Amino acid sequence: MENDTRTTDVEKRKRVFSGIQPTGTLTLGNYIGALRNFPILQQEYDCVYSVVDMHAITVRQDPAALRKACLKMMSLYLAVGLDPEKTLIYFQSHVSGHAELGWILDCFTYMGELNRMTQFKDKSAKHADNINAGLFTYPVLMAADILLYQTDLVPIGADQKQHLELARDIAQRFNAVYGDVFVVPDGFFQKVGARVMSLQEPTKKMSKSDPEETYIAMLDDKDTIRRKIKRAVTDSEADVRFDPENKPGISNLMSILSVLSGMSLEEITSVYGTSGYGRFKDAVAESVIEALTPIQERYNQIITDKAYLQKVMTEGAEKASYISRKTLGKVRRKVGLAALQL
Ligand code: AMP
Ligand code: TRP
Repeated sequence: MENDTRTTDVEKRKRVFSGIQPTGTLTLGNYIGALRNFPILQQEYDCVYSVVDMHAITVRQDPAALRKACLKMMSLYLAVGLDPEKTLIYFQSHVSGHAELGWILDCFTYMGELNRMTQFKDKSAKHADNINAGLFTYPVLMAADILLYQTDLVPIGADQKQHLELARDIAQRFNAVYGDVFVVPDGFFQKVGARVMSLQEPTKKMSKSDPEETYIAMLDDKDTIRRKIKRAVTDSEADVRFDPENKPGISNLMSILSVLSGMSLEEITSVYGTSGYGRFKDAVAESVIEALTPIQERYNQIITDKAYLQKVMTEGAEKASYISRKTLGKVRRKVGLAALQL
């Protein structure tokens, strides 16, 4: 990997790779649990973020909507502060190495392993009319994404743990036969803000696949944010204190306020403890607005700047292709695919 795009620091920075599907709206949960940390990670790690459009087509997509969703996703990455000079952002489908390595790794993955994947079981139940082979081999494509970039760390939510384990198994299996071809990746799980809960059912995770009023979208306007938080389910008491078991709604709002304002839970209780839920909820809403407004402003500029988006997309694809070709070349040699001398 001596010539890849990593900085030539004496000690190479660890590589972080993550993929996000360009489907649905990103929520405050995605922001607090994932995107908010991306600009922080880019200071310390060599980060690669892929808009995984090929994963998205395992379920039927409207073509125009999918294209738009991919650009929106890239614009949001840029709007939260990812700098394309430091962090590689690209579309998965622009780098053919993903599909190529995916195929090779298919030949190193067992049906039994894929049959055990809980996401496959869930998605097949949900899309019973379209249980396609792509849905089945989805985790192998994800393994290819990760292994193609010789990734050290993969920031993911708990639901992707099983897929990451499979990627590790495939890497180890391949390395056992051919020598150290792949870096075996580790998961990177975050501690604080890891679970933002639904505003209507605060014992459930906030999710973009639930009804509108249960989540705040990253692009919701101020009035919508105020309205949704005002209507958030709480309890019949009147004190603001952190007690996730008995007061899940209030505790969730406290966590949000704490992460976004930097106030500790104790400070929040001492300021809002007895002043009633109305004033507390106003403070939560304002903290969300304050966090999201600058991102929305940048987003609105970026999404209309087609030339800039095109440039980031093209340069990202070139850099990603360059890195991926190195891994793929090695894999091809190892498995015995003849090199084509052009
Ligand atoms: P998903 O939207 O499930 O594909 O997740 C994309 C990223 O956002 C993952 O890193 C998740 O862990 C994170 N994420 C999604 N929903 C939440 C939530 N309610 N709270 C915290 N993090 C979340
Ligand atoms: N499967 C992941 C999800 O549904 C998205 C994904 C695809 C991914 N490729 C990846 C995540 C590689 C991390 C690394 O959320």
